[in-house]
Amino acid sequence: MTRIDSRARAAVRGLTTYRPGVPIDEAKRRFKLASVIKLASNENALGPSPKAVAALRGAVPSLHRYPDATCRLLRERMSRKLRVDPASLIFGNGSDELIVLALRAFVDPGDGVVVASPTFLIYELQARACGASVTVVPLRDYRYDLAAMRAAITPHTKLVFIANPDNPTGTYVTKRELDAFLRGLSPQTLVFLDEAYYEFVEAPDYPQTLPSTEDRPLIVTRSFSKAYGLAGLRVGYGVARPPLIAAMDAVREPFNVNSLAQAAAAAALDDAAFLTRTRRLVRDGRRYLTKELDALRLRHVPSVTNFLLVELGPGAVRVAHGLLARGVIVREMSGWKLSGCLRVTIGTMAENHRFIAALKAALKSRATEEGR
Ligand SMILES: Cc1ncc(COP(=O)(O)O)c(C=O)c1O
Repeated sequence: MTRIDSRARAAVRGLTTYRPGVPIDEAKRRFKLASVIKLASNENALGPSPKAVAALRGAVPSLHRYPDATCRLLRERMSRKLRVDPASLIFGNGSDELIVLALRAFVDPGDGVVVASPTFLIYELQARACGASVTVVPLRDYRYDLAAMRAAITPHTKLVFIANPDNPTGTYVTKRELDAFLRGLSPQTLVFLDEAYYEFVEAPDYPQTLPSTEDRPLIVTRSFSKAYGLAGLRVGYGVARPPLIAAMDAVREPFNVNSLAQAAAAAALDDAAFLTRTRRLVRDGRRYLTKELDALRLRHVPSVTNFLLVELGPGAVRVAHGLLARGVIVREMSGWKLSGCLRVTIGTMAENHRFIAALKAALKSRATEEGR
């Protein structure tokens, strides 16, 4: 990794660059493999929504034009679907960008930001890049500890990040826990509620948060990258009271969501059949992987998402490498302070079978090496 130039801002010099999953082509090249599967970035194993792909084709002839800076068509459809005021919506180059926009709009250097750990790394990374004073609150038994996060809030806290469900654990906070957290919160403190995996959750006590955005200091964000299968196009959206949205809009680059992404996302919204198939795939895959991991006596965290966090103990790096050498890319979690764990995305059934077969072989090699 190249060292950061000494002329960079002090807040930037201290940053650790985010490392994405290994790309398929790189794994093929490195291990001379004809077939590699990627179960490392919580993408949709079915591919993109077919309606989105058809809409993309229709948008290609207008590529010489700048995109609609207001995302008009997508905004109209989304506002109708969610029953929210169009002015309470914002779109981003992935929901990642909305994290940056919220920080840029609301957090001055030295202001307080509260995040959990381990959770989605971008909150802390971007908050530190802004020069925020970041308070990190550990998870408790792989779940957000909202009581501890609430206790960490001071009069200087401007923003609190909550991933619900969480990545990398796949756990969620309940309606009761969230209500207790929000009750009596100072209006000075905004809550960024990241629901990137919203569409996968079937738990009855998972909170439906959009109505709360009308009278609470809440920014709810969701993504087209996961359930809609559009990670490569980069589209996410946020819902909040219009003045909060106006602040984020003021610091937004005008053409942040490209025209292909806008067209595809608007079409994907109507692709109910694709969403149903995706949910079924994830439900069935989770059941299969749970059964197999239980049979291997590997502890894993109960997940409401399209991925599972698995405890392998010492030698997890070696097992991840063994999986990679067998053409299965998963995420080894030491970068999240979860040494000994792997995160695996639920794939197609064929991919899930291949992962389990490769895992058994990699565990066997580890046992042989340890016995030497
Ligand atoms: C919790 C969480 N939030 C946000 C994102 C970013 O998603 P997007 O592709 O919409 O930027 C991810 C992606 O993995 C995620 O896990």
